[in-house]
Amino acid sequence: MKIVSGMRSTGKLHLGHYLGVIQNWEKLQREYESYFFVADWHALTTKYDKTENLKNDVIDVVSDWLACGIDPNISTIYVQSLVPEIAELNIYLSMVTPQNWVERDPTLKDMAKILRTKEGANSQISYGLMGYPVLMSADIMMFNAEAVPVGIDQVAHIEITRDIARRFNNIYKTEYFNEPKPILNECSLICGLDGNKMGKSFQNDIKISDSEEVTAKKIMSAITDRSRMRKDDLGHPDECEVAFKYWKIFADDETVQNVRCECEKGTRGCADCKRMLGSLINEKLADVREKRRYYEAHKDEVEKIILEGSQKARSQAQKTIREIRNIIGMY
Ligand code: TRP
Repeated sequence: MKIVSGMRSTGKLHLGHYLGVIQNWEKLQREYESYFFVADWHALTTKYDKTENLKNDVIDVVSDWLACGIDPNISTIYVQSLVPEIAELNIYLSMVTPQNWVERDPTLKDMAKILRTKEGANSQISYGLMGYPVLMSADIMMFNAEAVPVGIDQVAHIEITRDIARRFNNIYKTEYFNEPKPILNECSLICGLDGNKMGKSFQNDIKISDSEEVTAKKIMSAITDRSRMRKDDLGHPDECEVAFKYWKIFADDETVQNVRCECEKGTRGCADCKRMLGSLINEKLADVREKRRYYEAHKDEVEKIILEGSQKARSQAQKTIREIRNIIGMY
């Protein structure tokens, strides 16, 4: 079975990406024929006027993937725009997609709302952004994936992909395309240091590539139980908005039980608790970070992996696009 998934090139990734998505990919790559790509065209749908760091952002994303164990020897790692056949497929799919299918895409509506809050009520949604789910369909259908590992927020897009695949097959009287299914990421959602969703733009994230010092400092800045003024006040781990949740993600059951007891008895103050938590997280990430530093120092190697993977993806895409042109009846 083939799977395809991608991430927009937003620069250095954080623990939300690692625990929520990449760890899942890392497992799946050993079971499925896997294609993982950096969606740099999708990044352009909202950042078309901020392209200074585009190339570095791609390298950062792939370096993070490699550090987290995505293995270029078993998975195909590539950059979307280095496989221009995807853009050609995007054209064909856009012809068969009714306009109201994209207009009612809830994830797109959310993106439009965020854009309006950032840029004011007069901000215009570009034609390119409207095409977001169609381009995503082209990503997935280019390799005729049967499944797509994504977060819950992307499921609406995959629904459209299924609809587009079915409509294409109907119109051109073919069974060429699969109707891909989402594989939901089954891992823990880690919140940000302020208790909200972890996100780059909220400045509440811990990056995969952060140093140990930065990580420890960030953990110390996490919000704590406001009802606990003094160190030996009794704590309420279940109402603790960040630290205890992190303990549950990173520590074994026995440790979590200990933390709970000491907190409830008031023998573990929040500052001590976060200091220990910082050490634990640094310990858990030590291997990933060592690899991350290696790739930071060997960008040429990362670029080679990107170019080779994209070349491999492209030769497959070229073959597929010839078949698709034939099915449609292009010259
Ligand atoms: N839209 C996805 C995101 O923001 C990224 C993406 C682009 C993608 N194309 C895709 C994911 C194809 C899965 C399959 O995370």
